[in-house]
Amino acid sequence: MANLLFVLGTRPEVIKLAPVIAAFRAHGAPFSVQVCVTGQHRQLLDQMLNIFSIKPDFDLNLMQENQTLASLTGRIINSVNDLLAREKPDWIFVQGDTTTVMAASLAAYYNNIKVAHIEAGLRTGDKYSPFPEEINRRVAACVADLHLAPTKWARQNLLRENVGPEKIHVTGNTAIDALLYMREKNKTHGPELMEKLTGLGLPADLSKMVLITGHRRENFGTGFREICLAIRELAALHPECLFLYPVHLNPNVQKPVFEIIGNVPNVKLLPPLGYPEFVFLMEKSYLILTDSGGVQEEAPSLGKPVLVMRTTTERPEAVQANTAKLVGANKETIIANVRLLLENKDEYNRMAAAINPYGDGKASQRILAIFNSLLK
Ligand code: UD1
Ligand code: UDP
Repeated sequence: MANLLFVLGTRPEVIKLAPVIAAFRAHGAPFSVQVCVTGQHRQLLDQMLNIFSIKPDFDLNLMQENQTLASLTGRIINSVNDLLAREKPDWIFVQGDTTTVMAASLAAYYNNIKVAHIEAGLRTGDKYSPFPEEINRRVAACVADLHLAPTKWARQNLLRENVGPEKIHVTGNTAIDALLYMREKNKTHGPELMEKLTGLGLPADLSKMVLITGHRRENFGTGFREICLAIRELAALHPECLFLYPVHLNPNVQKPVFEIIGNVPNVKLLPPLGYPEFVFLMEKSYLILTDSGGVQEEAPSLGKPVLVMRTTTERPEAVQANTAKLVGANKETIIANVRLLLENKDEYNRMAAAINPYGDGKASQRILAIFNSLLK
């Protein structure tokens, strides 16, 4: 028997690990699967655990209001360390580049436990952008025994850092497994989802809707102010458009967003949405404005132009394919690029082609197959 422990802490980790956990659980022996949540996020984590029906075996419940990186890191290392010393799994699985990933990987290393890193090899080359994710994933890469890279480009990054080729597998991103699963499931729940959303005050006609998300630490302060001022001006320039923004629970995001665009008639601020509702809205949207990692992967698969409010991206494939564009967190650049897509149909059509650089929906099955062959 191989004892596997999935360690996760935030919203995107649940979404991207849910298909992998389901695949290993459905396979059964020789795998025994347990789930530990650090609780780096509390409400956002629970929302997604409920949606994917994941009941954690261990809940470390570590979130604190407006937590600092150092205090969170310390709490996770200590708590995961104690758990690993007690449970002694053969492998831990981590996904992505959050503090949970970095700290749990180190705790596993201290306990001589193997680490499988899903979504390995993403890099911007700039240690402060995204902050602290670029360093989190590099630490995870130093420690990992198995690197499950989503794309060939990610594999190249790992090879450049002298990771042995035998330890790297290109699997596709499990985000696309989750997305395709939810899109299919939503097909039979359209009226219910619409009813839920109209209950939140959304109009039935969402044909000119700009969907917005944002939460990156490097955008706190000036960046978020610029983003909100841009949205306010765009809303005035385009009263026929609805600017829909489910606001992340981080207080550094909530404060400027509600202060600057809390009272604009065609800006609708919502609480963070469940994954089915969010996927439904991505499909209905005209374009997407975001600094999120996961949304950058999902939008191209849905044929939605995505303007990325960052100066760097570790997901260059969609930028190279012209369906994503970096616009920074700069008011004038955001306004100019959103206007271009709203006002120039040719430009819009050029960016709206559906492409699939991040996966085909089978990443979890590939990861399962890799582990099966590892045990032979
Ligand atoms: C974290 C990750 C980021 C990831 C993002 C996904 C780190 C350093 N950051 O950022 O990589 O893209 O999650 O959303 O790992 N909060 C709540 N309830 C919640 C979640 C957050 O109240 O359910 C508030 C708390 O005050 C918390 C703060 O947000 O202290 C920050 O949470 P944290 O996980 O440290 O950072 P995020 O910005 O959410
Ligand atoms: N998402 C969601 N509800 C929302 C906003 C985002 O379900 O209100 C999903 C989105 O589809 C994607 C993931 O959450 O799969 C992205 O999470 P986030 O942007 O918080 O983190 P990142 O991907 O930047 O690490």
